[in-house]
Amino acid sequence: MSKHNVSRRQFLSYTLTGVGGFMAAGMLMPMVRFAVDPVLKADAGGDFIATNQKVSDLTTEPKRVDFTYEQTDAWYKSEETKVAWVYKDDNGKIVALSPVCKHLGCTVDWNTDKSNPNQFFCPCHYGRYTKDGVNVPGTPPVAPLDVYDYNEKDGMLYLGQVKPHKGA
Ligand code: FES
Repeated sequence: MSKHNVSRRQFLSYTLTGVGGFMAAGMLMPMVRFAVDPVLKADAGGDFIATNQKVSDLTTEPKRVDFTYEQTDAWYKSEETKVAWVYKDDNGKIVALSPVCKHLGCTVDWNTDKSNPNQFFCPCHYGRYTKDGVNVPGTPPVAPLDVYDYNEKDGMLYLGQVKPHKGA
């Protein structure tokens, strides 16, 4: 009888320990993951990402360039797509602008506002930017569009981090 009671206690003890451990692990895992998440994130911005854009095909007319990269977050992989407006300036230098409006983050288009041609236009609140990405005074955006770092490899355009526009 006594042996039977001890066995029950042991069973209860093991069960509670197991369930308690399982619950503790369930609570701790998100905390640990949160703490190390930045380390696990793919450093997409650190490296240049290949685009399908030939540098020789760029003109002085801004062109929308979409590019995709794989982001790895621990065991989760996802594809991220980014956009840039890219053109060559009058000196042949590549300019790659972020399309993210500096007012509230909508996406700007090139030359879609018929009353203000050859400007970047944000349809959300009629924000405007000149071709070099500088915000037009009197419109909602408060800063110029960010610019991408870029690189050329084997004739193809590679894009990197976005940085504040010089002079912003
Ligand atoms: S978000 Fe672009 S003007 Fe407001």
